[in-house]
Amino acid sequence: MPKKGVLELHEMKRAGQKIAWLTAYDYPTATFEEAAGVDMILVGDSLGMCVYGYPGTVPVTMDQCIVHSEAVRRAAPRTFVVGDMPFMSYQISDEEAVRNAGRFLKEAGVDAIKLEGGVSVISRVKAILAAGIVVCGHIGLTPQSSGQLGGHKAQGRTLESAKLVVEDARALYAAGIQLLLVEAVPPEVAAFIAAELPIPVLGIGAGAEVDGQLLIVSDVLGTFQAFTPKFVKKYADLADVSTAALTEYVKDVRAAAFPEEAHCYHMLDGEHEKFAAFTDK
Ligand code: KIV
Repeated sequence: MPKKGVLELHEMKRAGQKIAWLTAYDYPTATFEEAAGVDMILVGDSLGMCVYGYPGTVPVTMDQCIVHSEAVRRAAPRTFVVGDMPFMSYQISDEEAVRNAGRFLKEAGVDAIKLEGGVSVISRVKAILAAGIVVCGHIGLTPQSSGQLGGHKAQGRTLESAKLVVEDARALYAAGIQLLLVEAVPPEVAAFIAAELPIPVLGIGAGAEVDGQLLIVSDVLGTFQAFTPKFVKKYADLADVSTAALTEYVKDVRAAAFPEEAHCYHMLDGEHEKFAAFTDK
């Protein structure tokens, strides 16, 4: 299968084919996702919570994002990989935004970067686009500024708030973004944006009437246990499966039931007798 690029994603929108998008942070998971036929992978700054155990995304650094993006890229060479710009990698200046976006491409080989914000980040978006980098916008609930939003709260639930979300979408599209993620907004607001914009509009907690869906793989597989947002559908419970398997291992070791004969290396022909003679001395 040829590698998926942004033009193929635009073609999927035109053809009415829904785009399947998941986060991944490591090599094995990204391998499973490519095998499953996922169209896009986000190496999200949610790795702060899902991999490092931070309380939120704010502590995540560029270096962490690069290392995880490299692993995902190696595992999923044919999938469209998006690197997520962490807090303070683009807030300070256009120059820093371009430098950090460029690191994702040069060091990790991702296909696009994503950054949070609408009207407030237009100058950053234009600067990154001018460097020839594909940009995915992210509006609605933007976790990096959840402090200002009063927590991880759905956006666009009043007319005034919905207008702001639409205004952000229009401003980003006018700036030239090629992909847009809308997080935690009512379905009718996301559907309006997806119908209006000719680029793929993906949703996470934004209903079904958009061009594709994103979920956090740790929620989908049940490895993140701190909390589960309303929009998550859990497809497996790997936390339970893993804990049960590991408990069995501990029991086996304690009972000397592991290792068994089949798990042991044996001495080469004739060497056992020589070794026995050696230890008898
Ligand atoms: O980091 C991430 O996984 C994200 C999603 C919450 C949209 O940005």
